[in-house]
Amino acid sequence: MPASSPSFADVFGRPPEAQAQAPGRVNLLGEHTDYQGGFVLPSAIPQHTVVALARNGGDTHHLYSLNYGERLDVPAGETGTGFAPYVTGCCALTGVKDALDVWISSDVPSGGLSSSAALEIATLRALRTLYDLPLTDVDLALIGQRVEHEFVGVRSGIMDQMASSLADTRHMLFLDTRTLERQKLPLPAGGEVVVLDSGVPRRLAGSGYNTRRSEVEEAARRLGVSELRDVPDVAALASLPDLLLRRARHVVSENARVLLALHAPAPLFGELMNASHASLRSDYEVTVPRVDELVALLQAHPDVYGARMTGAGFGGAVVALARIGTAGQVARDVLAQYGPEGQQVVPPPYPESESAKSSGLTRTSGAEGRGN
Ligand code: GLA
Repeated sequence: MPASSPSFADVFGRPPEAQAQAPGRVNLLGEHTDYQGGFVLPSAIPQHTVVALARNGGDTHHLYSLNYGERLDVPAGETGTGFAPYVTGCCALTGVKDALDVWISSDVPSGGLSSSAALEIATLRALRTLYDLPLTDVDLALIGQRVEHEFVGVRSGIMDQMASSLADTRHMLFLDTRTLERQKLPLPAGGEVVVLDSGVPRRLAGSGYNTRRSEVEEAARRLGVSELRDVPDVAALASLPDLLLRRARHVVSENARVLLALHAPAPLFGELMNASHASLRSDYEVTVPRVDELVALLQAHPDVYGARMTGAGFGGAVVALARIGTAGQVARDVLAQYGPEGQQVVPPPYPESESAKSSGLTRTSGAEGRGN
């Protein structure tokens, strides 16, 4: 960010009353399983979103995004458009009626790395601080998910908000999305995470996502289970028509891969990532050609154990597991082959001190560990 970027005080003429931040996430394994009660293995990425806010005493929210260089004015109590619903939804669901001045800055790339969840969790943390709300970190995740459903219109699972609220960059968060039981596990022994942005904007991601969700709900209904989590084996799917069989086979096989991966060393973990990508490409059909190419380049690199798309798909980011100590070089090698639209995300290509600009308040609240 340039040093001249306007701070909260530059935009609103006084310091903020509260500020918080929350990270994006990369999902290492367990894709499109979290709305069928399945298992996921996300980790936080170093990039994060910062939200600073203060009551303005009026009746209109002023929402300033440093990234867009744009201010949206939304009457308090209304939802608004663009990035506004992520913030106004958080206000509505926490019962905040005041009109707010809000300043947002983020270095989480959009597309597969949960920039939306990072904005929701950072906003909710700032509101929790300002109003001293008795909410745990899990409560924040559940509210963030309701913002997606009720204000944004994407029927997302719970993975992204749980990861942004509870994960860190040094572990993977093994989450049972049915019970929300969770455990922090070390990253696969001998491996190092690489995340690249394909530069392919996600088109129709919301509608494609909701369609997939309806398809697997229909598969579960036909099989007589409440969620595909309860299907023990792909052999049990034989009665389904072809399309639903392939969709369900992805979910059931992906859950099995996560359980195999929990304590796997990097070479086995990498194989499971490769199998996950093949399943997302052929059975779930949420990849696009350029993402498949980027994954293939990573998989062909001699220092890479495995690679796959990450997040909802339809464009966006990819993740790989590289031999320890090689991640930066792998990212540079592969991007040189892929082309200029690709971008290195992890390891960050810049010093962490230059990540999302702070609003001007010195202390920023992150995870506060309120008993969860
Ligand atoms: C999006 C959703 C998540 C999850 C992933 C796919 O990121 O927000 O809930 O379903 O897609 O695994």
